[in-house]
Amino acid sequence: MKPVEWKNGKVRFLDQTKLPIEERYVETDDEEVLARAIKRLSIRGAPLIGIAAAYGVVLAANRISGSSEDNVSSRLERAVNVLLATRPTAVNLSWALDRMGRCIRESKEKSIDVLRKRLEKEATAIHEEDAAMCEEISRRGAALLPNGAAVLTHCNTGMLATGGRGTALGIITMAWEQSKLKHVYINETRPLLQGARLTAWELQRSGVPSTLLTDSTAGFLMQRGAISSVIVGADRIAANGDVANKVGTYTLAILAKHHGIPFYVAAPTSTIDAHTPRGSDIPIEQRGPEEVTTIGGIRIAPEGVHVYAPAFDVTPHELITGIITEREILIPPYLDAVRALDRSQMHSAKLHAVED
Ligand code: MRU
Repeated sequence: MKPVEWKNGKVRFLDQTKLPIEERYVETDDEEVLARAIKRLSIRGAPLIGIAAAYGVVLAANRISGSSEDNVSSRLERAVNVLLATRPTAVNLSWALDRMGRCIRESKEKSIDVLRKRLEKEATAIHEEDAAMCEEISRRGAALLPNGAAVLTHCNTGMLATGGRGTALGIITMAWEQSKLKHVYINETRPLLQGARLTAWELQRSGVPSTLLTDSTAGFLMQRGAISSVIVGADRIAANGDVANKVGTYTLAILAKHHGIPFYVAAPTSTIDAHTPRGSDIPIEQRGPEEVTTIGGIRIAPEGVHVYAPAFDVTPHELITGIITEREILIPPYLDAVRALDRSQMHSAKLHAVED
């Protein structure tokens, strides 16, 4: 199952809003269709949003007719802005679009055909690198878990959210393959039910034993001693280690702290935003009221009721036991750990540039 795929000059994606009832794939060669799919969460999850947006830039380049320099750069700039405006919190989106932007600038002197080839290569590289990062995160994370682990997770961080096996959910499935994991508890994740609709679907397909909970059941389960670790993903990690992730994550972190349960965040380094000092600086996406007042199109609240619907919340770094990345497991103090990681990344980027 590939939630996003580059196929014969088109993007083929699984419309996640239809899951688990229907597995419907959509094909498009139009970056604006792709942007709308990201906005309405047909394509979702921080890494996958970045991957899809990168392919969106390739679609835009392929649709340009004429090749005057002004025409090409203004068309691509417009496409990048449309894709960038879809969802503000997941930093993987601007990270991937920055990479595509760099590729455009570096190909300025080249023909449109060369530019198209380079953009396709860059988008495919972003996709493949994410799959490799998922493997590495999963390997590091699975090694951390105790034998017989019972893990609680929130939202969806698996194959449906990434270019590979997933981040938090990748750790869970790998630990299951290694016979280290006893059970997974899935928070349903209101309002859009990514846990119930998507994570439960993925875990059933992988044969991992799991139990679905309403979000408000997590505390009781911890109190009963049923959870050994909590693992979640991230949409953006600030320089001080504060984490923006699906709304409800902060509540889980507080509960885990109270019950002395380790609380891990799993994310690729593309989710770390060293330029955003702290969590309160992260832009938090607000969703429409109908996502709270309806479930599956059926109204569950009186018409006209006031709704507060942030898609994400911010978990302060002091509640996080460790941040599992593909490069290393970051531990407090996160400000130092993120700085060191940023320095080593800049260093290896320079080495790559020299090697290229
Ligand atoms: O609104 P969504 O479904 O895109 O939110 C997804 C999450 O919050 C995930 O936990 C996060 O993007 C990490 S996915 C590997």
